[in-house]
Amino acid sequence: MGDSMQIPNYEKARVRSKDKVLFRNFKMLDEYLNIGIDKKFFLKTYGCQMNEHDSENLKGMLKLMNFQETEDMNDADFILLNTCSIRENAHNKAFGMLGRIKHLKEKNPNIIVALCGCMAQEVGVVEEIRKKYKFVNFVFGTHNLDDLPKLLKNSFNDSKQNIEVKSIEGDVIEDIPVKRDNPYKAYVNIIYGCDKFCTYCIVPYTRGKQRSRKKEDIINEVKELVHDGYQEVTLLGQNVNAYGKDLYDNYSLAELLEDISKTNIPRIRFITSHPWDFTDKMVEVIRNHDNILNFVHLPVQSGSSRILKLMGRKYTKESYLELYDKLRSIDNISITTDIIVGFPGETDEDFKETLDLVNYCKFDSAFTFIYSPRENTPASKLKDDITLKEKEERLYELNELINKYSKESNDKMLNNTYSVLIEGESTKEGMLFGYTETNKLVNVKGTIDNIGKIVNVKITDAKSFSLDGEIVE
Ligand code: 5AD
Ligand code: SF4
Repeated sequence: MGDSMQIPNYEKARVRSKDKVLFRNFKMLDEYLNIGIDKKFFLKTYGCQMNEHDSENLKGMLKLMNFQETEDMNDADFILLNTCSIRENAHNKAFGMLGRIKHLKEKNPNIIVALCGCMAQEVGVVEEIRKKYKFVNFVFGTHNLDDLPKLLKNSFNDSKQNIEVKSIEGDVIEDIPVKRDNPYKAYVNIIYGCDKFCTYCIVPYTRGKQRSRKKEDIINEVKELVHDGYQEVTLLGQNVNAYGKDLYDNYSLAELLEDISKTNIPRIRFITSHPWDFTDKMVEVIRNHDNILNFVHLPVQSGSSRILKLMGRKYTKESYLELYDKLRSIDNISITTDIIVGFPGETDEDFKETLDLVNYCKFDSAFTFIYSPRENTPASKLKDDITLKEKEERLYELNELINKYSKESNDKMLNNTYSVLIEGESTKEGMLFGYTETNKLVNVKGTIDNIGKIVNVKITDAKSFSLDGEIVE
């Protein structure tokens, strides 16, 4: 089994052919069904919502194999890390965890340890695991999640380390079992992979080519969720606005949103949008459907057109702002963003343009990052000529501004009433928590019979990162 080793390969991961995407259906073989009897698994997930949802699929398979989940790593027979490559610190966290697992395994050599997710697709990571982390039983990538049952079975029979990572454009796999974390909100994949190749980003190499799920499969999944009582779906993709381009002539995210709206699921979100593929029709569809929430995550990355060009973002500051203005014209919309500081060659002038853009857009909130060079990406070959101190200062200054506008955006909500999906009890006694349509966290005074319901909440206090409120009729 160890002989079938497949290690990642960036040349292959970069290929984008015109070949048709393979659609296939997952099937659990009977021989795997009993593997988990009397065994527990511990799964740790890093990274984005895509990865969280992949973990829901991993859990779905493990449950079907009769494993029980445990929150306590010390208690597990099988430890699985679903990893992220996006920045250096995601790496460090996963390797730190492997260090802890090593000690556990010294005490109990029977534990099976595996690593999957985006880091598994990285050449350097797999090399390191083969050299320094020999106790890891197996590694599998983002393209063969469905190999988990087979790999697990093999690892019980063969102690040799097995690396099974495919650097392919990718298939679309339907019907993988799923064990959802949240009983009211569900993630639904609509498109996998990414063809944008932003120069700083590792995702096109770890997640394969852009490939849409068939609309019928998506709509049926949402219908089932409605049937099961779900209140909210989040449509997932590295770039959801590219939905359909690889599959249909005249069916895009706009049409998909309209069709999903008809299922009458109370709330529809979608992440993440790339400004490049955002059409006017999509803006109007958001404006005109009550259950398509007025919330758009629209990463800008930089306010300098010169840096945007170096990043390979395919839009300018001006064209971003044009789209931004169109979206802002939707009543009560919330727009959030991602910004990277310290991209190679970013001058004070470039950074000032980012601050200017933030002052113009007044984002409802933003994720901000220091640029992190990623293995094999074009940007990692550019001279990283900004000191860490400078990068940290820029991040600090940017965050101050972002927080100011988050607070302003929250302050505007004071004394007004919004609909909130109550998800559970808050850590504060007698309080519940939930999210507004614009994805703001609200701590709400109320009783537990409201959990799982969409209720009207009057906002009584506004902070930078959350709101307080009380339920009104
Ligand atoms: N360094 C820093 N931030 C990055 N992001 C993606 N790649 C990098 C990188 N190499 C950020 C972008 C993206 C978000 C998910 O992570 O802002 O939108
Ligand atoms: Fe991390 Fe990107 Fe992979 Fe998500 S797709 S897990 S953010 S590297």
